[in-house]
Amino acid sequence: MSDCKKKTAHNIAEIKKALGSSDGRTVGLVPTMGALHRGHLSLIERAARDCDTVVVSIYVNPTQFGPTEDLEGYPRQLDKDIEMASGAGADIIFAPADDELYPAPVFTEIKINELVGLLCGKKRPEHFSGVATIVVKLVNIIKPDIIYFGEKDWQQFVIVKKVFKDLNVDTLVVGMPIVRDADGLALSSRNRYLSQKQRRSAKALPAALELAHDMIKNGERRKDKIISAAKEVIAAEPSLELEYFSICHPENLVEVETIKGEMLLAAAVDAGGARLIDNKVIKI
Ligand code: PAF
Repeated sequence: MSDCKKKTAHNIAEIKKALGSSDGRTVGLVPTMGALHRGHLSLIERAARDCDTVVVSIYVNPTQFGPTEDLEGYPRQLDKDIEMASGAGADIIFAPADDELYPAPVFTEIKINELVGLLCGKKRPEHFSGVATIVVKLVNIIKPDIIYFGEKDWQQFVIVKKVFKDLNVDTLVVGMPIVRDADGLALSSRNRYLSQKQRRSAKALPAALELAHDMIKNGERRKDKIISAAKEVIAAEPSLELEYFSICHPENLVEVETIKGEMLLAAAVDAGGARLIDNKVIKI
C-alpha cells in the first residue's frame, strides 16, 4: 500500500488527525475533483516545493454542477488519483463523501455579486457560488497557508482571490500556468469525453486564441476583426460550437474597448457535450 493510501482521510475527523498540530509547518492545499492529469500534478509538485505538508482534496462537488451538467458521469478514479497525487508529492489525500461535506440541505452558500454574469458564468449561473462555497469549506477544514489553482479556469482563479479578500481568508492563492498537450489543447479532466474526431477538432480552440494573439502582436487593433478571425477558426470545425470568445480585462473580466495593456483572451466551446475552455493572458 502506498504511503498516501495509508494517509487518505475520508472524513473531517480523519483529515484533522492526519494534519495534527501544525507546529509551524506550512500546509499547501491542491483542491481537485479527481480524474487527475499533468495539470493537477504541476500544482502538487509546486505545493511540494513550497510547503512542508501537501494536502490534495479529491471531491466532485455537486453544488457547482447545473441540473443538466455532467455530475453523474464525471470521471471518478480514486485509487489511480491517490497513486498519481502521491507520486507528485502529496502527503495527505482528503476524499470525503457527500454527506460529510453536505450533511444537510445547503443552508449557507457564498453569493458572488460580480463576475458571475460574465464568460462561463453566463451559461453556468450557479457554478461559481458552488465553487466559492466548497473552496471556503475546504480551507476552513484544512487551514492551508497556500492554495493552488490551475489558470485554465481563469475566472475561478480570479473569483477565489476576490472571495478570500472580501471574507478575510488569510490563505495565499497561487495560480499555475496551463499545461497543454503537444498540439496545444489545454489538459482537462473533460478531454476524456472527446471522440478521436472531436479531439482532433478541439485543437482549434487554442489555435483561435493563438491567432488572436498573433494578430495583436502584428499590430491589429480592431477588436471586431480579431474576434471574427478567431471565431472563423472554430467555425471551421463543425463538431465545435462556440459559446464565447472574449477579449477582456484579466481581473474584472469586463470586455475591453481598446486593444491595449494587459488583456485576457478567453474562449469556451461545446464539443459534442463536452465543455472546453481555454485562455491566454497577454500584454502589449
Ligand atoms: O477546479 C476544480 O477542479 C474545482 O472547481 C474545485 C476548485 C476543486 C472546487 O470543486
